[in-house]
Amino acid sequence: MNINIYKNKEEVSEKLSDHIIKNHINNSIALSGGSTPLLLFKSLSRKLSSSKNLNTKFYWVDERCVPPDSDESNYKMAKENLFINNIFKSENIYRIKGENEPQKEAISYDKNLRKTLKLKHDIPQFDLIILGIGDDGHTASLFPHEFQNLRGEEECLVATHPSSGQKRISLSEKIINNAKEVIFHVTGSGKKYVIDEIINKTGNYKSYPASYISPKSTNLSWYLDFEASEMLTK
Ligand code: 6PG
Repeated sequence: MNINIYKNKEEVSEKLSDHIIKNHINNSIALSGGSTPLLLFKSLSRKLSSSKNLNTKFYWVDERCVPPDSDESNYKMAKENLFINNIFKSENIYRIKGENEPQKEAISYDKNLRKTLKLKHDIPQFDLIILGIGDDGHTASLFPHEFQNLRGEEECLVATHPSSGQKRISLSEKIINNAKEVIFHVTGSGKKYVIDEIINKTGNYKSYPASYISPKSTNLSWYLDFEASEMLTK
């Protein structure tokens, strides 16, 4: 496990985008949503602004069950900040169709993963999965209140947000742990306690879905800012 700590969220995004450009520009990458990836998307599209039709294949870790033009859509945030000026080939952008019936879309997306990704252990294998973490220890849309019920054989599944009840399509623990490389991209003081518990296996870590992310490849890294890593360095 590599833990990379940088001064602030801007520097984290710059260093993570450097890593992606250096190691994954021709690979398959699964993106998370939420607010943290925004600076990363901006950094990538700025650094690659003179490139056209790159072969990177993009997928999503999870998607809210909303239309692609909704402000809640993870795809929309990437479309507006990362997929600009034809930097990447549009045919290599595999969005989860949040507008579809959730269970049907989970099945359809999994079929698409099996069609477009290599299989390892008969499971679709991403080259890189970038994950966020909520202050409740969720990752992807694997939330503590239902996580134990989601630890099955599915590769893509339907999850429910604990407070809003919003349906989401999410990659499962099984497929995430089959990736060649997994990176947790986490910034801000609001995550400092949960980061400390997960990394040091203390407190309530066993109730946090993010604690169960342990890729078979063992290639797991953290990209953190000082605020999120504050408890680690005490
Ligand atoms: C989502 C994300 C989710 C996110 C965490 C952290 O669809 O919201 O995939 O898992 O990574 O909730 O969100 P922030 O980056 O907003 O803190």
